[in-house]
Amino acid sequence: MSSSLIRVQNLGKKYPIKEVMSSHRSLAEEMTLWIRPWKGKAQIRELWALRDLNLSVDAGESIGIIGANGSGKSTFLKILARVVWPTTGSVQLHGRVAALLEVGTGFHLELTGRENIYLSGAMLGMKRGEVAARFDEIVAFSEVEAFLETPVKKYSSGMFLRLAFSVMAHLTSDILIIDEILAVGDEAFQEKCLRKMKSIVREGRTVIFVSHQLDKVALLCNRIIWLKNGLVVKDDRAEVVLGSFRGSQ
Ligand SMILES: Nc1ncnc2c1ncn2[C@@H]1O[C@H](COP(=O)(O)OP(=O)(O)O)[C@@H](O)[C@H]1O
Ligand SMILES: [Mg+2]
Repeated sequence: MSSSLIRVQNLGKKYPIKEVMSSHRSLAEEMTLWIRPWKGKAQIRELWALRDLNLSVDAGESIGIIGANGSGKSTFLKILARVVWPTTGSVQLHGRVAALLEVGTGFHLELTGRENIYLSGAMLGMKRGEVAARFDEIVAFSEVEAFLETPVKKYSSGMFLRLAFSVMAHLTSDILIIDEILAVGDEAFQEKCLRKMKSIVREGRTVIFVSHQLDKVALLCNRIIWLKNGLVVKDDRAEVVLGSFRGSQ
């Protein structure tokens, strides 16, 4: 059996997308419509958000994922977090995943901050006592103590992020996945999160971090995967990939 924490083989994700022919048509499009009138209706086209992805990740690696908007970064994280199912290939994952994804978290909007901390722990398979033991640490890091009994739907986006990050970083997991969301927080909080992620890596846990802030990726990650149109352009040591990426801009 392989010792890798994550093994991804031939991974691909296809989305159906609807395309409607524009009302400002070229002569060629007018001709097409005359010959094939059904072309004026919505067309279902396929889009491969991720293609032919093959990689493995070992415990203790800190991996950055970079690439332009729409290159497949979030799709990959969602597949790892089992929010989205792949179209092709497989993901073998040994360990518990805590994920802070772009849209939403495991938080329930009607529940209070306190209740959501326990809910997140339960979703990661932790016992109530285990969560209770970390509770004070989570609250202190998040700096939202005064709002613990308030439903999180009343939180500002910054407060929401603080609590969500703190929960994911402090609960028991082998793999911590963080999408671009960190950029929502203020600079001081971002720095604090980076320090926390570094200490998580030092503990031997694995962090996978998506960001457009290359300086932050460089500080945290020893390996970077650069995606473009759903394909891997480069997967190598951080400085090697950053050099090529900056050179291509
Ligand atoms: N649910 C979806 N339905 C259709 N297309 C999608 C969906 N989610 C993502 N896509 C498309 O897949 C591509 C990759 O998206 P995404 O993984 O979010 O990229 P990134 O996070 O790198 O910006 C984009 O072209 C995006 O529009
Ligand atoms: Mg994204």
